[in-house]
Amino acid sequence: MKILVTGSEGYLGSLLAPELLNRGFEVVGLDTGFYKEAALFHRGQTTPLTLDCDLRRLEAKQLSGVDAIVHMAELSNDPIGQLAPEITYEINHRGSLHLAETARRAGVKRFVYMSSCSVYGVSEAELVDEESPVNPQTIYAICKTLVERDVRKMADDNFSPTFLRNATAYGASPRMRFDIVLNNLSGLAWTTREIKMTSDGTPWRPLVHGLDICRAIIETLNAPREAVHNQTFNVGDTNHNYRVREIAEIVAKSFEGCELAFGPPSTDNRSYRVSFAKIRKHLPNFQCAWDARRGAKQLHDLFQRIDMRPEVFQHRSFTRLKQLEYLLRTRQIDDRFFWTE
Ligand SMILES: NC(=O)c1ccc[n+]([C@@H]2O[C@H](COP(=O)([O-])OP(=O)(O)OC[C@H]3O[C@@H](n4cnc5c(N)ncnc54)[C@H](O)[C@@H]3O)[C@@H](O)[C@H]2O)c1
Repeated sequence: MKILVTGSEGYLGSLLAPELLNRGFEVVGLDTGFYKEAALFHRGQTTPLTLDCDLRRLEAKQLSGVDAIVHMAELSNDPIGQLAPEITYEINHRGSLHLAETARRAGVKRFVYMSSCSVYGVSEAELVDEESPVNPQTIYAICKTLVERDVRKMADDNFSPTFLRNATAYGASPRMRFDIVLNNLSGLAWTTREIKMTSDGTPWRPLVHGLDICRAIIETLNAPREAVHNQTFNVGDTNHNYRVREIAEIVAKSFEGCELAFGPPSTDNRSYRVSFAKIRKHLPNFQCAWDARRGAKQLHDLFQRIDMRPEVFQHRSFTRLKQLEYLLRTRQIDDRFFWTE
């Protein structure tokens, strides 16, 4: 099976592509390379041949022979949505629709979309599941709901989309992100031996390791069409709904000598607890192998091995907003986030 992975040079894409290659899939990447400049570490794994292409300019002929697409190439967090709302709509919503429409025309049979549990936004419910109403609070999350809505309508006998609503990821990746909660707290713990929370950490966040997201994608690709056709799955584990406070405590314990302090209640009201029962039912081979404790230990051991310095932790390449602001300021990308050269 030939798979096109968009966003193959990102945090999750650089984990997924080698996992697919190891399992005998034929893989082609596609990435415009916003974060390509630096890798936190190297591990000598095979990377796929990659189309150096912006999603918005993809043509059907580039999809020749592709059986399935795993679509990850988007502006990947809330702060970027605030920095550039119009471009977030252009890439995340319209760009994703362009990709899905082009794929459908080119005869691609499967389309696995990386959605997010952030579509649930704020919820009073004990546990939200795939049937719960969505309540997105940011442009990033709104775009996820719009792509789900519009791509769902394209499903037919020849085109099977699947929507994976991932919990917040964590864990080591060569194209590291230190702007996601567990990775950020671990980097702080390692470089400063101190975690000073600006809030009381009461909101709930479901977490999932990047490699467990890869597992869910692989199970989706291997599943019979009926099990995944036009289905939405939350990706994570119901036992891995943590309060932010708990995540901080787990990290502080994993980094010897790390001090931990909390602040006042936050104005960021996003909080949701998620049920991950459906994916276990439809894809019985899927199970998370990681939890936050093991993830924090993985990062501790990695930072020790690579002797990670504060300047590396703070480097713009590992914080998506900082890198895009830098590329804009130095005019390497234009106002629409196309490379200028
Ligand atoms: N990391 C998480 O916690 C998480 C959680 C839920 C969902 N997701 C989703 O999973 C996907 C991957 O996330 P990630 O953490 O790996 O993000 P990332 O920012 O590390 O990677 C995204 C990749 O897409 C590329 N890209 C962006 N815009 C592009 C364009 N217009 N054309 C071509 N390439 C483009 C970037 O260069 C980057 O390599 C995203 O859609 C994200 O919203 C991530």
